[in-house]
Amino acid sequence: MKGAKIIGTGSYLPEKILTNFDLEKIVDTSDEWIRTRTGIEERHIVADDEAASSLVVNAARKAMEMASIKPQDIDTIICATISPDTPFPSTGCWVGTALGIEGVPAFDVSAACSGFLYGLIVADSLIKAGTAKRILVSGVEILTRITNWTDRTTCVLFGDGAGTVIMEESDDDSGILSSYWGADGSLGDLLIQPAGGSRMPPTHETVDKNLHTIYMKGNEVFKHAVRKMALAAEKVLVKANIKPEEIALFIPHQANIRIIDATIKRFGIPREKTMVTIDKIGNISSATIPISLDWAVREGRIKKGDLVLLDAFGGGFTWGATLMRW
Ligand code: UT7
Repeated sequence: MKGAKIIGTGSYLPEKILTNFDLEKIVDTSDEWIRTRTGIEERHIVADDEAASSLVVNAARKAMEMASIKPQDIDTIICATISPDTPFPSTGCWVGTALGIEGVPAFDVSAACSGFLYGLIVADSLIKAGTAKRILVSGVEILTRITNWTDRTTCVLFGDGAGTVIMEESDDDSGILSSYWGADGSLGDLLIQPAGGSRMPPTHETVDKNLHTIYMKGNEVFKHAVRKMALAAEKVLVKANIKPEEIALFIPHQANIRIIDATIKRFGIPREKTMVTIDKIGNISSATIPISLDWAVREGRIKKGDLVLLDAFGGGFTWGATLMRW
């Protein structure tokens, strides 16, 4: 059975930047607190006329250019997001139409910050099974539209953006070597957008109480994130019989620099071999890994044959890791 590999990457960040100093004017916070507690310095924020699908389209065009393919060469569209254009149709469907691709399956994956890795694992399986040949996998979020701008414990963390990859069957030993994913809904209330679904439909009251925004018990989530990201990384390394020192580049989800540092410390992966983008983009949930991967590729930090480890944890709870040979 042939594996699946990435043949193109692309990312897009909205033009407008919101700095920590801007946030000092909105809530009772400081640049110093945000930088030392999270590692974030600034984040990008969408313009009024942008939606999740338009961010993906911008990123996808760059990925297609790198892969030297046209939209019509794509036969499946997977979009990981918790901030879709509309509850339905899926953002994947809107992306397909915007790219002029007709008739191919398109759907969204909802696994919060682990969403892109969930999408990658699904894409890998579809290609291995022969169900698809060339898949556009994206992670996209407009978290600033589901942020409570009066809650300093969350509004300083999130940003907007999209990252995409194109996957196809591998013709050599490159591609995904091993993956691991998991979820635990019993802890779902610790990181949640409470209203807007069938459990708590929108009412004037839910809007007034800011229940359509992200609620997070940060320090609880932090502990689980460190544990589960370590577990997921260990599982994929053991499965592929690879030692941490063989990893050329580690690309973790960018939620907090202290979570990243705790994870690499456990594995003895040095900071130089770790992609850190949180200072410039903040936490963009499912988009942080594909954006960081695209930056790494374009900065020449990944070369043919390199082992690359992706690792994420997010709301659900969900977690996952993927090890690939570039
Ligand atoms: O992306 C998917 C998963 N998400 C994560 O993995 C996020 C995990 N959690 C975190 O990254 C961290 O928990 C946070 C960055 C969210 C918070 O950092 P913390 O070190 O856990 O802070 P804390 O919530 O324990 O709060 C410490 C103090 C509190 O004050 P008191 O009670 O000690 O007086 C907070 O009120 O910091 C205060 N605080 C702030 N102060 C200034 C919380 N937010 C802010 C703020 N500015 N923005």
